[in-house]
Amino acid sequence: MAAMIEAHGLKKVFTTGDGKRIEAVKGVDLAVQKGEIFSLLGPNGAGKTTTINMISGLIEPTEGDASIGGHSITGEPLRAKALLGVIPQEIALYPKLSARQNLNFFGKMYGLSGADLNRRVDEVLDFIDLRDRQNDRVENFSGGMKRRVNIGVGLLHRPQVVYMDEPTVGIDPQNRRRVLDTVFRLRDEYNMTVLYTTHLMEEAQELSDRVGIIDHGEIIALGTQGELTQQVGEEDRLTIGIDAVQAPQQLLDALQTQIEGVTQAEFLAPTLPEGVDSEELERKGGKIRVLAKRGRKALPRILNLIEEHNVEVNSVEVREPDLEAVFLHLTGRALRD
Ligand SMILES: Nc1ncnc2c1ncn2[C@@H]1O[C@H](COP(=O)(O)OP(=O)(O)O)[C@@H](O)[C@H]1O
Ligand SMILES: [Mg+2]
Repeated sequence: MAAMIEAHGLKKVFTTGDGKRIEAVKGVDLAVQKGEIFSLLGPNGAGKTTTINMISGLIEPTEGDASIGGHSITGEPLRAKALLGVIPQEIALYPKLSARQNLNFFGKMYGLSGADLNRRVDEVLDFIDLRDRQNDRVENFSGGMKRRVNIGVGLLHRPQVVYMDEPTVGIDPQNRRRVLDTVFRLRDEYNMTVLYTTHLMEEAQELSDRVGIIDHGEIIALGTQGELTQQVGEEDRLTIGIDAVQAPQQLLDALQTQIEGVTQAEFLAPTLPEGVDSEELERKGGKIRVLAKRGRKALPRILNLIEEHNVEVNSVEVREPDLEAVFLHLTGRALRD
């Protein structure tokens, strides 16, 4: 059976006013199964929105095709779009209308009317938890509340597939939490298929059944989080804060040669703004960064070794391989700006 969302060789070339060619998406292949939450994770400008716009039929691919529920978005756009709810990156609501009036308006655009429309609007207002504010004008809503109405609009016609393009950008943590919970409810209570884009590693990590990492218009890694982190070799990253402003080279050598699994040990000097006196620098101390297979288990031996070199430990942080590490491994850059 075809996957719920499929994309084959999707490409998009934009030509700017001065004739410059921008290859925004360079051949994306995707298959998202029914009931799956799939995230496209990538930095700003990676091509997430362009990809979503192509597979929702909003812009035409330069090459390639996509389908929803087996219906080609270019060949059978009406059938494909009937299954799809799109929650765009930009909020598009009428500020002078109330939440309910907005939902009514968009519901009519989807072809709903009468009692059916009323019922759907009620259900959606409950779902986005805004029934008690339904008659307030949207212009008086917070960014997070507007975002929730925006989500509601995308759900009015009971889609089976939902696209959400960076739905948490620019909203407060509480509303962000609600949006993430909404994504889970769409999957778990309604068996919907969700395609979610984000530049935030934490969100992709929390939400996704599978993740595609996109960079410069290409999917550079795709799989479950376990599959992706295995690519970086299952190395834990230990960051050990120490009192000294320099770690003895002997200690760094010892860490690499005497402790099994350690592949790298380096000193990270303290960074302070210019003009800070050396006493302050000394108080702050530096850090030792250790990359180690099964680093968590090796931690006691690592700490012992540091102590044996008369260096005092202030703090310890252990990070298991995460999507940030995968991105760093594949691109040599951090995901963060
Ligand atoms: N309409 C457009 N015309 C020209 N360039 C565009 C257009 N839309 C997007 N781009 C460019 O395509 C690239 C991908 O953009 P986008 O898909 O918006 O990335 P993302 O959503 O991952 O931040 C960027 O370099 C962007 O500047
Ligand atoms: Mg975008």
